[in-house]
Amino acid sequence: MSSLAGRDLLSIADLNGQQIAELLKLAAALKSKELSVTCNKVLGLLFYKASTRTRVSFSVAMYQLGGQVIDLNPDRTQVGRGEPLIDTARVLDRYLDILAIRTFEQKDLETFANYSQIPIINALTDLEHPCQILADFLTIQETFGKLSGLTLTYLGDGNNVANSLLLGGVLMGMNVNIATPKDYQIQPEIIEQAKNLAQENAKIMITNDPKEATENAHILYTDVWASMGQEDEAANRIPIFQPYQINDELLKIADPEAIVLHCLPAHRGEEITDSVMEGKQSKVWDEAENRMHAQKALIASLLGAV
Ligand code: CP
Ligand code: NVA
Repeated sequence: MSSLAGRDLLSIADLNGQQIAELLKLAAALKSKELSVTCNKVLGLLFYKASTRTRVSFSVAMYQLGGQVIDLNPDRTQVGRGEPLIDTARVLDRYLDILAIRTFEQKDLETFANYSQIPIINALTDLEHPCQILADFLTIQETFGKLSGLTLTYLGDGNNVANSLLLGGVLMGMNVNIATPKDYQIQPEIIEQAKNLAQENAKIMITNDPKEATENAHILYTDVWASMGQEDEAANRIPIFQPYQINDELLKIADPEAIVLHCLPAHRGEEITDSVMEGKQSKVWDEAENRMHAQKALIASLLGAV
């Protein structure tokens, strides 16, 4: 396995396809208990936004590795009262072995990475959600036995999850179709970056047509129509995004063996119907579980324990 020891994960594109494949292999081995890793270190969680899955899966992963977790809730630390990030970063660097941050701006995450030596993990920013994508890919690989050559269709808002799926998908040789309303497209810089990173066989479709994007898809993926920090816009977005809802009718257009993924939390009746979420093509619970296995592999790799 190529070493990721001491590295940061700020974007899924900080990894290449081979490194992602190796992390998935390690995650699968940890999940099946074919392999066990011990890593007696301390992980900090600095989360400026709510979280259930990321917070708990990181914590349990670290405990199972034999390590400890410190919850650095900004409400209870000085950073929440305005202590500069560049000071906080250098102090935490002296205590912790690894730090996962959930925040708004990618540049704040970069500041932490620039001012600390320990690995910094993006636990979600407005720009990306790379840890989510590792779990998604693990789920896809468990289902289809491969990633390359599959068609992954994302429907909804051109948000952090969409960005990371697009970048990660093309790195793994997947065809990635992104269908969003016209004013909610993925930003052109990310599309350009994806084109540059894409393996030769990976095709990218950026469209406003949900049906065109869904034809023959092996994976249908959606996320909330308004992300954390955009709550004020949520009601106005509902009619605009309605055609992008994953429902039984849309699912019929996809490959008959297609699976449905959602990073969660879901707004049932908006981006996904109850019927699809609870239906037999839904893999959302395996996907949520896989957050823990994928992050365990990630922590062990960044800490040089494997
Ligand atoms: N999918 C995800 O990141 O969930 P949480 O916001 O609950 O962590
Ligand atoms: N796009 C969503 C993902 C939540 C896991 C958000 O940023 O709120």
